[in-house]
Order: sequence, then structure tokens, then C-alpha cells
Amino acid sequence: MKNEDLFMRRSFDLARLGVKNVNPNPMVGSLLLFDGLVIGEGYHKQYGGKHAEVNCFESVFKEKQAKIHESILFVTLEPCCFHGKTPACTDLIVRKKVKNLRISTTDKTPEVNGKGLKILSDANVRTKTDLLENLGNWFVRFRTTFVTKNRPHIILKYAVSKDGYLGKVGENIWMTNPISKRLVHKWRSEVGAIMVGTNTALTDNPKLDNRYFPGKSPLRIVPDRSNKIPKTAHLKDGKIPTWILGDDPKSTPEDSSNLEYLSLPKGDGFLPALFDRLVEANINTLLVEGGASLLNSFIEAGFWDEARIFETDQVLGDGISAPNIGGRIDIVEKVGTDRLVFRYAD
Ligand SMILES: NC(=O)c1ccc[n+]([C@@H]2O[C@H](COP(=O)([O-])OP(=O)(O)OC[C@H]3O[C@@H](n4cnc5c(N)ncnc54)[C@H](OP(=O)(O)O)[C@@H]3O)[C@@H](O)[C@H]2O)c1
Ligand SMILES: [Zn+2]
Repeated sequence: MKNEDLFMRRSFDLARLGVKNVNPNPMVGSLLLFDGLVIGEGYHKQYGGKHAEVNCFESVFKEKQAKIHESILFVTLEPCCFHGKTPACTDLIVRKKVKNLRISTTDKTPEVNGKGLKILSDANVRTKTDLLENLGNWFVRFRTTFVTKNRPHIILKYAVSKDGYLGKVGENIWMTNPISKRLVHKWRSEVGAIMVGTNTALTDNPKLDNRYFPGKSPLRIVPDRSNKIPKTAHLKDGKIPTWILGDDPKSTPEDSSNLEYLSLPKGDGFLPALFDRLVEANINTLLVEGGASLLNSFIEAGFWDEARIFETDQVLGDGISAPNIGGRIDIVEKVGTDRLVFRYAD
């Protein structure tokens, strides 16, 4: 491994620490290297909070501060160049007189997208880009989808039996092992919203919260266009912010500030209207957890970015067929007895 790759990898490790708290901003990590020694490290910890570069500069011990201008600054993403929730990092880098910068990838946010690098090169900061670029793009993919497609990054998640079924009509069948279940709760802690279809809400009565991993529970979303889901369903318990996609049945006593009814247009405009509401709410990731009809509607419309599919050992004999999803298989790993396949749409 090249030396510079090693320090960029360390910056990614730092970036990852922000996974639960920075959305819809990207995870970003940064370090300062002086004469082979790391003298500063930082990452973006919280949405609206200080950027990785600021935390990195602030971490440098007093006796090493005079060395900052002779150090190489590593950042996993192009520094920002506009005053958003915090001042521009390009100004700070110029003020600190850093002369050498290494980044992994550019920030596709329209206000940045190469402009940060231009400002820095105009200020005579020597910049090397594309260090572990694929990894860099993967790290910020939620953000990139959000700012380039103007919708949340969509992750489809489901479990398939050995003979290709998702479940049986009207039966609540659990197919994955407890380790996979915990992993799904970890994923829930990392996304902005989770969605299931009406039939899944009726058959499985899911809680759709994060109970098995430290961190938050995301917004829950369920369509209920004919008001079929009973008020006793977990999804209507008001414990977690929940969007019910359907007309507000004013006669029912589901009075909870956590329950919001959204009337969306029917037909092809349904999902785009939902995405608009999610963008308005600053939610950049949507985890779609089934069932088959809902997953197929996302797949057929091309509204997905990645899929995480658990292939299990169970044999159902018959049932609801798993979606026919294309995309590119990227990673396949064993999770206990389950086989987890990651697919990407492009
Ligand atoms: N193996 C797994 O990973 C997994 C995961 C989840 C569920 N399941 C199983 O899958 C079964 C349910 O699957 P399902 O295919 O019957 O139903 P589903 O996808 O859960 O729900 C479909 C219903 O949702 C409503 N809906 C609203 N917007 C929709 C849209 N854009 N696209 C599709 N549907 C939309 C429709 O009801 P209206 O017409 O009333 O609006 C539709 O009939 C259950 O047995 C469940 O246990 C398995
Ligand atoms: Zn910044």
C-alpha cells in the first residue's frame, strides 16, 4: 500500500465515526501529516456542526501548531467553498497556509463540485485528487444521490428463501438469522427513513424501529390508501415519527404528534411526490424493506440505488416471488447461515 493511501484510509476510518449523525451531509474525515507524523485528526461529527477540516485543525496540540503550514492535509472529500451552516473550509485552509492537500473525490454538491479545488489552486495550494477515489465516492453516495438526483438514496432490502420466495400470502414468516436481524437494525440507525408496503404492515405488523443497535430509529413510512391498517398496528402506535401515506381518517382517534398523514397523487406520481416530501424534510436515505409489490414498483420505475439481499436456507415450496432485480453484484458475504448480496444499480 502506498504511504498516502494509508493516511487516506485512516481519514476514512475517522469519517465513518459520523455515520449516524451527519445525514443529509456526507461523512468526512481529515488528518494532518507533518514529517511522517500525524499531528491532527478530525471528522464531521454532527449535521450542522463543524466540518472535518475544522475539527482536524482544532485537534493539533499547541506545540505543533507552528507546523500546520508545513503539513499535508488529507481530506476524504473536496473542501467546501461556501458559507452554509458553517464557514467555508477553503478559507480556513488558505488562512492556515497549508500548501499541500490530498483528497479522495470531489463534492458533487452543485455549489462545490470542483469550485473548492479551484479556489485552493488559485491560492497556490498543491492538490492531489483521486486518492482511493472509488472508496471516496462510495462513502458519500447518499449525499451524491441526494444532490444529483434530487431524491433520497434508495436502498432495497429483503430476504429470499432458497427457492426464490419472499414469503407466503397472509403469513408472517421470519427467514433470516438473529445476526442478520441485528445488522438490519444497524442499517436502520444509519438511514433517514424506512418504508414497507400496506400488505406487509397487515401481515407482519412490524415495529420498524431500531431496537438491536445503538442509535436512532428513523422515520417510518407506510402507504395506507384505503385505511386498511388498524389503529392497533405498531406502525400507528405513535412511538416514532411515522408518515402514513393516505387520507387522514379524521374519525379515528390516532391522535399523535408522531403520526402524519400525507395525501399523495395516485399512479406514477406517487413515489416522486413522496421523494419531494422527503427532500423537503432533508431526508437523504430511504430503506425499503418490502414486500414484493412495493419493491417491484421501485425497481420498475428505476428508483433504486442499491439492494441488500439476504439469501437464506429456508425452503418455502411456494409463495410470493422475490423481485427480479438487475444491477451489478458488488459484495457477497456470509452473515452466519445467510448469504448477503449487495447489488448496485449502476
Ligand atoms: N422476505 C422479505 O424480506 C419480506 C419483506 C417484507 C415483506 N415480506 C412479505 O411480503 C408479503 C407482502 O408483500 P406484498 O407484495 O403482498 O405487499 P406489499 O408490497 O407489502 O404491499 C403492497 C400494497 O401496498 C400498497 N402500495 C402503496 N403504494 C404502492 C406502490 N408504489 N407499489 C406497490 N404497492 C403499493 C398497495 O395497497 P393499496 O392498493 O391498498 O394501496 C399494495 O397492494 C408479506 O407476506 C410479508 O410477510 C417479506
Ligand atoms: Zn467544509
